[in-house]
Amino acid sequence: MNILTKSLIGLDGVPAAETVLSHVDGERGELIIAGEHVATLADKSSFEGVTARLWNGATGSNLSEANVRSSLGAARERAFARLPDLLPATRGMSVVDGFRAAVAGLRGENGLPHEATIVGAFPVIAGALVQRAKGNDPVAPDPTISHAADTLKMLLGRKAEPREVAALDAYFVTVCDHGMNASTFTTRVIASTQADLFAAVTGGYCALTGPLHGGAPEPVLEMLDAIGSRERIKPWVDDALARGERLMGFGHRVYRVRDPRADVLKVAIEKLEADGADLPFAGEVEAYIRAALRKKNPERPLETNVEFFTAILLDALQIPRQAFTPIFAVARAAGWTAHAKEQQRTGRLIRPSSSYVGAVPKS
Ligand code: ACO
Repeated sequence: MNILTKSLIGLDGVPAAETVLSHVDGERGELIIAGEHVATLADKSSFEGVTARLWNGATGSNLSEANVRSSLGAARERAFARLPDLLPATRGMSVVDGFRAAVAGLRGENGLPHEATIVGAFPVIAGALVQRAKGNDPVAPDPTISHAADTLKMLLGRKAEPREVAALDAYFVTVCDHGMNASTFTTRVIASTQADLFAAVTGGYCALTGPLHGGAPEPVLEMLDAIGSRERIKPWVDDALARGERLMGFGHRVYRVRDPRADVLKVAIEKLEADGADLPFAGEVEAYIRAALRKKNPERPLETNVEFFTAILLDALQIPRQAFTPIFAVARAAGWTAHAKEQQRTGRLIRPSSSYVGAVPKS
């Protein structure tokens, strides 16, 4: 019997695809998205700009930022018109679960590529579910403004300020793609069967919802709330670690140093200058947890990951915490659709093997 190590069973470091879309260097703490370092992109590019780069990389097309902006604006309007079909399937569900059900109901729109239909629909669905949770009707999109600005408008029910739009746009750019993470791998596996993009991104979203992947930001805020004050940082963290708990927003399968996206988001929060964001307190919690994790597990570097500052940024933007995972998906949809198209072009089915450790017939 072939006995696999723990790391091989988790497919650590096993390449599942060749991609031009993004590259994560876990030892050096580097992330390249479509040929640029993430910090440069977050500084220079809009979400529409980086989405154009990803789609062009996946398909060889030559879309500009303006092309993507206009197709996403049209797609948001189409998705809004489809809400009466999509929302009934989400009745009684939380924002996270309702988003899954509504995304599963998406289908092709005449004259729009599937990838635009999907990326355009995501914030419309998230906005409608958030408004419904407050007892309000969905807020109609505005196709003339940016994807980040319109996302905030539909979520908050008001026109966002430029500094808020800049912060959400920086977040979208920062998390739009990230190598062969669990949800992107799921998306590529589904696309490799030649299932369509709607099936592929629905699967990707399902993988994103778990707390070991994209479901961590809400628990990060719960942790900060539970700690509550500076004096309680040490006892709270020490107790949680003594109980063997995982602290949300720390650790990563690939990074052995600090997740470079954490710093990009920290800068975005500083620029936002939001009243509600207690960055000094969060910074003290972060510093103590990093030191405590180093002490507890000296051989296994566990550093801050993107979800810690995601939680603080989205909270400062007054986005309800129940919507954090769908908002992550709004950004990651750009990467998922690009990966699905890149995978389909290869024509190669992803079909790994397993190591059988069960009973064997006696004869
Ligand atoms: N807090 C405390 N201990 C931790 C943490 C953590 N956040 N992360 C890992 N450890 C410990 C594990 O318990 C384990 O200890 P052990 O060997 O004594 O059992 C050791 O460190 C190694 O952990 P692994 O399981 O090998 O780490 P893995 O690479 O599988 O996990 C993961 C990575 C899932 C992100 C993990 O660090 C974790 O659960 N973090 C908290 C959740 C989180 O922040 N998720 C968001 C990830 S970022 C993203 O996906 C967008």
